[in-house]
Amino acid sequence: MEPEILTTQQTHAPVKTIVETRAVTRDYPSGGGIVHALRGIDLRVLPGEFVALRGRSGSGKTTLLNILIGLDNPTSGEVFVLDQKLSSMSETERARLRRESVGMMFQNAHLFPSLTAQENVEIPLRLARVPSRKRTEMAQQALAHVGLGKRAHHRGMELSGGEQQRVALARALVHKPRFIIADEPTGNLDSLTGRDIIHLLRSIAHEEHIGMLIATHDAVLYKAADRVLNINDGQITEEVK
Ligand SMILES: Nc1ncnc2c1ncn2[C@@H]1O[C@H](COP(=O)(O)OP(=O)(O)OP(=O)(O)O)[C@@H](O)[C@H]1O
Ligand SMILES: [Mg+2]
Repeated sequence: MEPEILTTQQTHAPVKTIVETRAVTRDYPSGGGIVHALRGIDLRVLPGEFVALRGRSGSGKTTLLNILIGLDNPTSGEVFVLDQKLSSMSETERARLRRESVGMMFQNAHLFPSLTAQENVEIPLRLARVPSRKRTEMAQQALAHVGLGKRAHHRGMELSGGEQQRVALARALVHKPRFIIADEPTGNLDSLTGRDIIHLLRSIAHEEHIGMLIATHDAVLYKAADRVLNINDGQITEEVK
């Protein structure tokens, strides 16, 4: 059955799928041989879905995430983001798609330590040339959304690891993306703080119809996910929940 078309945001055109891949492979030349990092990946994430990507170290998670947002190219196969074929877009168009529609999180928050939480969250808005007053308002809203409104003027280096990761989430959300990709966002957090971040991510995915794909080793995240994609040696199997 074809998925229903959802309007994720009023200002955006409706899309059927957040991300879809068809037979994606990625080979790396390595030491005279070839590493087959991805061996034919077919996946789909719909608006509002919170999907975990589980796999052992070296199974291809980071390789796949980079390809899904057009930071790397597949050796073969096709990737569609918001129903648009990445291989038909120019580098500039892909950069624009990332800037406008994608939010990213990593194992480390990667905040600028001497900038405040508010200034860190404003960075994607500066890149998108949002005027100063609007930037302030949007960053404050995003920080409030992750429960850090009161920490807006603390510097990155004055925040705990969990708070830094929540600032990173606010930064990933501030430009109202439709697709969030995260590579082990709870990898450096204690289990309770990690759980808070996971439940926050999940509720935001569901409430705002954002598609999220989260690479993780965290069992709490598998439980919270709508679906779990297992990646093993560059191939995906889906876990029925
Ligand atoms: N630039 C590269 N050149 C050659 N091989 C690479 C390169 N990047 C990744 N690989 C190989 O591709 C495979 C998948 O790597 P990838 O980083 O995607 O794994 P991962 O699932 O993210 O692992 P981890 O959980 O440790 O982060 C591994 O065998 C890795 O050694
Ligand atoms: Mg990785």
